[in-house]
Amino acid sequence: MDPSIQETARAKINLALHVTGRRADGYHLLDSLVTFADTGDELTFSPADADRLTLGGRFGAHLDAEGDNLVLKARDLLRQVLRERGHAAPPVHIHLDKELPIAAGIGGGSADAAATLRGLQRVWNATLPDADLSPLALRLGADVPMCLVSRPLMARGIGEALTPVALPAFSMVLVNPLVGVSTPEIFRRLERRDNAPLPPLPSRADAPVWMDYLQEQRNDLEPPARSLVAIIGDLITALEESGARLARMSGSGATCFGLYADKATATAATQRLATRFPEAYIQATHTLPGDA
Ligand code: C5P
Repeated sequence: MDPSIQETARAKINLALHVTGRRADGYHLLDSLVTFADTGDELTFSPADADRLTLGGRFGAHLDAEGDNLVLKARDLLRQVLRERGHAAPPVHIHLDKELPIAAGIGGGSADAAATLRGLQRVWNATLPDADLSPLALRLGADVPMCLVSRPLMARGIGEALTPVALPAFSMVLVNPLVGVSTPEIFRRLERRDNAPLPPLPSRADAPVWMDYLQEQRNDLEPPARSLVAIIGDLITALEESGARLARMSGSGATCFGLYADKATATAATQRLATRFPEAYIQATHTLPGDA
């Protein structure tokens, strides 16, 4: 029997992201409607004689397997907490197939860290209660708690105050120009930090009602990201021209997404986009439904 354990680190999509304030420590207060895609990085965890991280996948060569890797930080932090509680956390081989672009606004690193926390709890046969796991995840990054959940949700605070939302599944296309964007740099470039929060969410809504609602909302990080990476504006226009009902940037960019009426329109859109942006990462997928 293969004792290895697998976890998917799903792409995080900010359907709307309003920056509503700033804390004394510099972190920004957000109001963000978040969903997750049926595409992501794949992690495999197996018992080993010594700790090891190996990398593969389309973007694996862009990562460092030893230095500043969130997978290693997540492993070390979880092990430390478990050992403090008298629980064994023996060596493990982690393999990360990196399929999502790096520094892309879709939470790749955060999702990898969250998948590591989920996977290693399974390997080590330990279950931390949510009340302990969420703060531990937050120490790894503001988006790690939401990636632990990986289901549609409203995120408030700096991204750690989470409420599930009964969002439907959407057909979606992701497009990234393969230009990395620094999140702190985008936050620094914000002109306003006191924007209006999201209005109350529609209740028991179907996909067209959500599309209408989302059309009225923003990603407040989009203007500073566009000023830094001009192609973002072109990507959003191209998504709209390809039939997207909604086209926005996710997180701090530069990944943009389009939501489509159905899978066939989304698949056709990827062909048009690939002709126009041959160097870009382009992926047709769908989002996961919420079960609030
Ligand atoms: O928490 P994480 O390491 O993912 O955040 C990266 C950077 O993004 C932070 O150091 C901070 O500069 C900025 N940030 C922020 N407000 C948030 C989340 C991130 O200012 N809510």
